[in-house]
Amino acid sequence: MTIWKYSEVGHNQDAKKEVKPFNNDDVFETPKPERLIERVLTLASNPGDLVLDSFLGSGTTAAVAQKMGRRYIGIELGNHAYTHCYPRLKMVTNGTDQGGISKAQNWKGGSGFKFYELAPSLLKEDQFGNLVINKEYNADMLAAAMAKQEGYTYQPDTALYWKQGQSSEHDYIYTTTQFLTVESLDAIKETMQEGESLLICCTAFQKECTTHTPNITVKKNPQMLLGRCEFNKDNYNLNIIDMPQLDIEDDTEGIALPEDSPVTENNKTTNPTLFD
Ligand SMILES: C[S@@+](CC[C@H](N)C(=O)[O-])C[C@H]1O[C@@H](n2cnc3c(N)ncnc32)[C@H](O)[C@@H]1O
Repeated sequence: MTIWKYSEVGHNQDAKKEVKPFNNDDVFETPKPERLIERVLTLASNPGDLVLDSFLGSGTTAAVAQKMGRRYIGIELGNHAYTHCYPRLKMVTNGTDQGGISKAQNWKGGSGFKFYELAPSLLKEDQFGNLVINKEYNADMLAAAMAKQEGYTYQPDTALYWKQGQSSEHDYIYTTTQFLTVESLDAIKETMQEGESLLICCTAFQKECTTHTPNITVKKNPQMLLGRCEFNKDNYNLNIIDMPQLDIEDDTEGIALPEDSPVTENNKTTNPTLFD
């Protein structure tokens, strides 16, 4: 209020009223008024720009960005992602939210958003303090995660079990938790076509496996993942080779979540996950 007049950009009390329609029972403690974020986005961005709120809270930034024709990414680790952000953005995109800046922006609804949940951490410490693959990962999740980490597109072949992902026309990845033997390599080799190559990520293997088949590379997990991690740093990076690609077609057409989507009773969604 010392910089911008509350009559121009609103007040926390206005903001609480704006959030109420999306979650009447549990009004968020410190929401910002839509008019305040509108002022900030007017000054700092243009239509089509990408706005990031990495602490999304009740979802005001995303709602305002949507109404102002900006693209946005919101990140929220609290349950508000389900109880506030999701229902709010759903009402914004279907046009039933007419509060906040809707009238000023002549907002009638439209466009859409995608709602993603992060997968659990891939690595976890065991009882001896060693980093191991998290047991929450089933075989499919692990295969998808390894493919992403190694720069392959996860795309399991229905006919050949070892073709789980591809990096080029002839290069494949196969992740397994089974002990790898030279016999199992021979069996795979028999079904490989000339010119095809394969990376196998496994938890343990017979030592002959590394040199047994020239076009099959064998690597051990979780060591191969650990090579990508940096520990005991303030700003560590997990070097993900295969960054998500912007889906231009989705962007232009606008993706609304399916009507029967996603918040279920236990707050787990049926929406795409990290690996979809
Ligand atoms: C005060 S709210 C922010 C509200 C919103 N950005 C606004 O301006 O109205 C802060 C939010 O950040 C979330 N948060 C805190 N640490 C986080 C993290 N590491 N990743 C994602 N969200 C986080 C909290 O759950 C809380 O909802």
